[in-house]
Amino acid sequence: MAQNVRIAVVGSGYVGLVAAVCFAEIGHSVVCVDNDERKVKALQGGDTLIHENHLPELLGKYRNGRVTFTTDLGEATKNSDVIFVAVGTPQSETGDADLSYVEAVAAEIARSINGYKVIVEKSTVPVYTNEWIRRVIERNGVDKHLFDVVSNPEFLREGTAVEDFLHPDRIVVGSDSPRAAELLRAIYAPLTEGAYYKQEGHITGICNTEELPPILLTSTKSAEIIKHASNAFLALKISFINAVANICEEADANVEQVAKGMGLDARIGPRFLRPGIGYGGSCFPKDVSAFRSVAEQMGLGFNLLAEVERINEQQKKRFIAKVRSTLWTLRGKKLAVLGLAFKGDTDDIRESPAIDLVQTLLAEGCSVAAFDPAAMGRAKLELPEGPNCKYVCDPYEAANDADALLILTDWAEFGQLDLARLNKSMRYSIIVDGRNMYEPEAMAEAGFHYTSVGRPS
Ligand code: UGA
Repeated sequence: MAQNVRIAVVGSGYVGLVAAVCFAEIGHSVVCVDNDERKVKALQGGDTLIHENHLPELLGKYRNGRVTFTTDLGEATKNSDVIFVAVGTPQSETGDADLSYVEAVAAEIARSINGYKVIVEKSTVPVYTNEWIRRVIERNGVDKHLFDVVSNPEFLREGTAVEDFLHPDRIVVGSDSPRAAELLRAIYAPLTEGAYYKQEGHITGICNTEELPPILLTSTKSAEIIKHASNAFLALKISFINAVANICEEADANVEQVAKGMGLDARIGPRFLRPGIGYGGSCFPKDVSAFRSVAEQMGLGFNLLAEVERINEQQKKRFIAKVRSTLWTLRGKKLAVLGLAFKGDTDDIRESPAIDLVQTLLAEGCSVAAFDPAAMGRAKLELPEGPNCKYVCDPYEAANDADALLILTDWAEFGQLDLARLNKSMRYSIIVDGRNMYEPEAMAEAGFHYTSVGRPS
């Protein structure tokens, strides 16, 4: 494969860790830096700390070989040519992105620069961040010819992160320096020129298209905006279809048919038109808010995004209203809850609508028996176990003697339940499905009172 580039990745969260092992998988040497010593020790020992397909095998393959872990950013900077910054950019109290971690990392990198370095923004950051990084490094006494700042946003999704990284729809490199752009091009060459896909035992992608991922070279600011605009647009698609689902409910139409009919128009496309209980996760809520904030700071109202957020909140309220209208009163009702993660295939509960909904239901006086295949450990920190909140080992135990069963996360296994077994164990055969995992006709045949999103019951 292409030349080996010495890479440092700062931050070993979802994006940083996945990027680090994937860069190793395409032939580079990577040092992964995190200031959390316990995290570094765990990773050195082969514990990925997050639930993600392919991550354990890649970490096992490269840890202490092509990928090493350290808390020492100074050393890592000295020994690398390209430094990817993948630290958190959480939402601040005012709704914009809190860039204090990025700033601290930039200052520390500046103190250790010992030759030409490319500093890459991998975290999602607002436009102009590259200029601030540049300024911080120069203020720390580094000559402007000794470094460049590049924006290379990451588009991976949790749950399919490794496949997404290795089979991206596109690679965006925002750089105002040909020298830096060339280094980035070399890093991704095994993907963009296809050598990786010819390698025996390579990890295959979800779509597995024959086409090689294109690399799009832009200005740094354009790349920063591409990331925010992409996430905001995807969130908009979800809120749009949720609003349409509500119209379908009132009109007794079927949103799945409507979404299919819309998605067949190539200009709209079929993806991200699944209605549900609203988007969650560590990206969409914070990025929609941060992008709106960017616009506001420029004196540009972007009320469309405020509406996207309003619809998302409304969708959760509408789900509670559905449970209420099925059960009449909520106090004292025993509910089986399937799913706590913000989506299937992940143990992440950050901004999970499922957690919000369970909190509301508990406050309304319901008792809950919850099951999630991966997220229960994390969920217990937000929703502590107690007399009204139990965690159980499988969906059937959750359903035991329940007044209703709620499906809140789209884990595939929740779409393959033994309906006869459920029916026998529940007090009432009521399912409120926030993820449209079943066909209403089949559920009626199986003897359930079944309510879903945007479809006739
Ligand atoms: C999202 C983007 O999809 C990635 O491209 C991006 O890189 C990432 O954010 C990020 O910025 O780091 P992720 O948050 O992992 O990825 O999850 P998604 O699969 O996008 O789902 C987000 C939320 O939208 C979930 O709550 C999901 O259930 C919901 N969703 C998604 C829907 O309700 N309907 C859909 O059709 C699709």
